[in-house]
Amino acid sequence: MGDVDYTEELDVAVRVVHLACVLCRRVQDGLIGPSIDQVKSKDDDSPVTVADWSVQAIVSWTLSEIFGGQNVSIVAEEDAQTLSKADSAGILEAVVSTVNKSLAEAPKFGLRSPDNALGASQVLEAISRCNSAGGPTGRHWVLDPVDGTLGFVRRDQYAVALALIEKGKVVIGVLGCPNYPVKMEWINYHDQNCQIVSKLLPPSSDSAEKGCVIYTKRGSGKAWMQPLIHEDEKLEWPNSARLIRVSSIDDPAKATFCEPVEKANSSHTFTAGLAQSVGLRKQPLRVYSMVKYAAIAGGDAEIFMKFARSGYKEKIWDHAAGVLIVQEAGGVVTDAGGRPLDFSRGIYLEGLDRGVIACSGDILHDKIIEAVYASWDSSNL
Ligand SMILES: *[C@@H]1O[C@H](CO)[C@@H](O)[C@H](O)[C@H]1NC(C)=O
Ligand SMILES: *[C@@H]1O[C@H](CO)[C@@H](O)[C@H](O)[C@H]1NC(C)=O
Ligand SMILES: *[C@@H]1O[C@H](CO)[C@@H](O)[C@H](O)[C@H]1NC(C)=O
Repeated sequence: MGDVDYTEELDVAVRVVHLACVLCRRVQDGLIGPSIDQVKSKDDDSPVTVADWSVQAIVSWTLSEIFGGQNVSIVAEEDAQTLSKADSAGILEAVVSTVNKSLAEAPKFGLRSPDNALGASQVLEAISRCNSAGGPTGRHWVLDPVDGTLGFVRRDQYAVALALIEKGKVVIGVLGCPNYPVKMEWINYHDQNCQIVSKLLPPSSDSAEKGCVIYTKRGSGKAWMQPLIHEDEKLEWPNSARLIRVSSIDDPAKATFCEPVEKANSSHTFTAGLAQSVGLRKQPLRVYSMVKYAAIAGGDAEIFMKFARSGYKEKIWDHAAGVLIVQEAGGVVTDAGGRPLDFSRGIYLEGLDRGVIACSGDILHDKIIEAVYASWDSSNL
């Protein structure tokens, strides 16, 4: 593995994730398909469904075009069966048109467009090609097209996550975070009140200062962040990227910890107990999606903890890209037993010990692992 450098794979992955972020924004703004603001009923999630399928189609089509000779293997969340059902016809139409518009823009990001617009059957074929089950051998792309469904629907944080796993190890990680507050000076914008962390919480209406794509390559010891290109803006591809690095804070009293927004996804009671025993003083930063990993890698928070209810199996696409980015940016990610996450055993993180703990450094990480040992037996997880 050491002699493969993944330069081309990383380059293509960054470009297609960038394209996907732009697609998600369009769908969210109602420029394609039903607008989120038109969706009154809580369970009508058609915009996010359109974004999910469309991102999966453009990523699959692009990877196959470029790496097709190698029979690309893609592991992804969505399954084409549901989309091709008759009752999904309205959605399928919106997906085809979204995919077509998005791929027509691909050259703006240095990617190829199809010679002719893709039809419904080609879009379905691209989506259904993402049926790999991963595993310990070979090369598998892992995609979460829209991670953080509620975040997307609420115009809060969500992510497009793409990783490449080779021989069971994550070798490339790319996270598109369309609503992540980018440090203002990077885009020549001055704002004295720029508080990255506080801005993570409330969804802001001004999208001009938000959005980035974060990426890394295994063994590089580096992670990069590029601001997202907005429409009607000066930024153009190729976009400048900056190095990012984890925070140097190792005092629990000064550290910020992130966790899932929904109690259904992680026990807030258990992490509150851990926070207290470790000496964390700040309120938890509850963030949707893999943007939590982005916050650790970019130095905006120091700790991310997730303890799902017993019986829930974590999926590789919810972690692969974020874990590698945090590690290469200088952080540490393990399960609650202190062992590395195992991406080699199919679509689940099999053998995960209780939960996931990502930290900016060893000192905080060791303290949390110790606290888990001390308090686990009395927890009800
Ligand atoms: C790709 O898949 C096809 C059909 O399964 C197979 O015939 C072909 O040998 C594969 N090519 C490579 C390079 O693995
Ligand atoms: C695809 O998009 C192009 C450019 O936006 C448009 O002219 C064409 O009608 C679209 N075709 C389909 C099948 O959606
Ligand atoms: C979060 O919880 C919901 C509801 O139980 C579940 O459907 C979803 O898969 C969970 N997601 C993650 C990333 O844990």
